[in-house]
Amino acid sequence: MSYNLLKGKRGIIFGALDANSIAWKTAERVHEEGGSFVLTNAPIAMRMGQINELAEKTGSEIIPADATSLEDLENLVTKAQEILGGKLDFVLHSIGMSVNVRKGRAYTDQKYDWTQKGTDVSAMSFHKVMQTLYKQDAMNEWGSIVALTYMAAQRVFPDYNDMADNKAYLESIARSFGYFYGKEKNVRVNTISQSPTPTTAGQGVKGFDGFIAYAERMSPLGNATAQDCADYTISLFSDLTKRVTMQNLYNDGGFSNTGVSNEVMEAFMKAEGHE
Ligand SMILES: NC(=O)c1ccc[n+]([C@@H]2O[C@H](COP(=O)([O-])OP(=O)(O)OC[C@H]3O[C@@H](n4cnc5c(N)ncnc54)[C@H](O)[C@@H]3O)[C@@H](O)[C@H]2O)c1
Repeated sequence: MSYNLLKGKRGIIFGALDANSIAWKTAERVHEEGGSFVLTNAPIAMRMGQINELAEKTGSEIIPADATSLEDLENLVTKAQEILGGKLDFVLHSIGMSVNVRKGRAYTDQKYDWTQKGTDVSAMSFHKVMQTLYKQDAMNEWGSIVALTYMAAQRVFPDYNDMADNKAYLESIARSFGYFYGKEKNVRVNTISQSPTPTTAGQGVKGFDGFIAYAERMSPLGNATAQDCADYTISLFSDLTKRVTMQNLYNDGGFSNTGVSNEVMEAFMKAEGHE
């Protein structure tokens, strides 16, 4: 269903890799709501080719950019405004990667150049994106910027590894930049803390199947899907949430405020032989 919430709005969507990506679902929803946008991803991710399909479907252009490169970001922000015909109203940062996670290094045995790479891609890139937008004065008043995060920034999930620290940094950047962007330009900056979701990045985390099944049983409303996340993001891009800023917003079916659920307790008691 479309509510025309984003009619006439323009933006940039980072991170659509394939049809499972949160950014992919969000791009489809933004399109349905009447928004227009430029799609972007790292040049290396483009080679897999699937983003062309999304571009065609949504009538969008693609501009490759490595989100750690200021040069790429400057080019992206300039060109996006040219293509879309004006300043931007929304930006989605849907980017995450840890080399330590990828290579199976434990949290207590990190290779620090990998750690640094992950921090640059997953967190500092958010600052770089916003600083580039800010310096080019590329956002319209009351625009909205959203990045995606996970609750491991607040609580320990051992296998989330150094991504937990990256997410804590990302959420802090949202608050700090949100202050300046709010004061100067009335632009909102928020993070959405999403349930475990079966995407390429999600499935890269060790023990993901257990993780998602546990979260499903812990959450009164069940896990939020990528589609749910797209819907929530649309609301944050719309004019209906104008004074929501500098927040970390949970889209997790209630997981973050649940101590234990009856289902999880029952499964635990059964496994322990206390039937
Ligand atoms: N899947 C989950 O369980 C989950 C849960 C909470 C939050 N998130 C967050 O959601 C966001 C999107 O991830 P997803 O789950 O849709 O997975 P995904 O793998 O589909 O998306 C990750 C994207 O990051 C892009 N990327 C990596 N390095 C980049 C770079 N240098 N420059 C530009 N782009 C780069 C990838 O190409 C990819 O498109 C991430 O921030 C992730 O941490 C995911």
